Amino acid sequence: MAIISSNPQPLKPGDSSQPGLFSDGMLKEPSAKRTSNDKSPHSSAAKEPLLEPEAKPEERSQQEERLRPRRLSEYIGQKDLKEVLDIAIQAAKVRQETLDHLLLYGPPGLGKTTLSLILAEEMGVGCKMTTAPALERPRDIAGLLMGLQPGDVLFIDEIHRLPKVTEEILYAAMEDFRLDVTLGKGTSARTRSLSLKRFTLVGATTRVGALTSPLRDRFGLIQRLRFYEIDELLQIVLRTAGILKMPVTDEGATEIARRSRGTPRIANRLLKRVRDYVQVKELGNLTEAIAAEALERYNIDPLGLDWTDRRLLTVMIENFNGGPVGLETIAAATGEDAQTIEEVYEPYLLQIGYLNRTSRGRIATAAAWKHLGYTPPDAQLSIL
Ligand code: ADE
Repeated sequence: MAIISSNPQPLKPGDSSQPGLFSDGMLKEPSAKRTSNDKSPHSSAAKEPLLEPEAKPEERSQQEERLRPRRLSEYIGQKDLKEVLDIAIQAAKVRQETLDHLLLYGPPGLGKTTLSLILAEEMGVGCKMTTAPALERPRDIAGLLMGLQPGDVLFIDEIHRLPKVTEEILYAAMEDFRLDVTLGKGTSARTRSLSLKRFTLVGATTRVGALTSPLRDRFGLIQRLRFYEIDELLQIVLRTAGILKMPVTDEGATEIARRSRGTPRIANRLLKRVRDYVQVKELGNLTEAIAAEALERYNIDPLGLDWTDRRLLTVMIENFNGGPVGLETIAAATGEDAQTIEEVYEPYLLQIGYLNRTSRGRIATAAAWKHLGYTPPDAQLSIL
């Protein structure tokens, strides 16, 4: 049976693959030489998964839930998206209708689940949450749809991974609020239609391009979440620190914001690790220097890159002279999963201009070479 919940209870963990381990044996002789201090990923301590933007099971606990904003007015960032949602909510309320189906896409950790819960709260309806891979059999989605109350929000995470049979059931449910069920088998099979309460489907995905067009076309609103600016993350860190009753200076919070790779979930996670550090070392107020010192311990550099980011870029530079190099080749050379590289690591590296995607493969930019202490080749510099 699908995982259903009106409260944000734990979702069944997806099979988001754990990044593979770094295998030294895969490295070729370095062809590029470092010019400055050794920031080699080879020398780093154990790999810290702190910057993986996927939610960890413990981050779905009730205690974590109190960090989530509950109303649109409390939600920081995503200004344009908030405006669109605000208008949709107000219009639906005036017309006493349900909200249109909404597709939210963008990198993990940016607030898709939170926004879905906010929508339900603002509309005064329930929110049932599940994840696409849990909807294996027709009866999983049928049970969910039949249990919805009028106006409810049904949140389906990783909607690009819906099994085909489930997706086909959703078409009539989304369009006509109708559930077509097949009874019996073979020549005696009959189809019956059941009417459903009107509901709002909120689909979330990191890969909007992987949705079929019949499914995509059934969403009235399709909205992208973007990475957060430092000042937005700063406000989020300060808000969370307030809830956790943690003394923090603006500069300390800014240092955490800077290293959070544009992602609130990571910002909150880093804040909690820094809180541990401050507590154990009995340091008192969280200042910029303390935040920097703590995060260095976790191998998170001033730009928020971690062991895996540096490893990906280093392999591109040392083994492939910065590229262009194909995603599968990078995956094979680093022992990372290609999909994880594409969905989890690349978006931020692209955003900060350390990686380019071309038709011939990925390229580590001159900025990435410099950040890692290498001298970029002339060809790269001329692109700058
Ligand atoms: N906590 C996590 N994301 C947030 C956001 N966008 N606004 C306020 N608090 C948050």
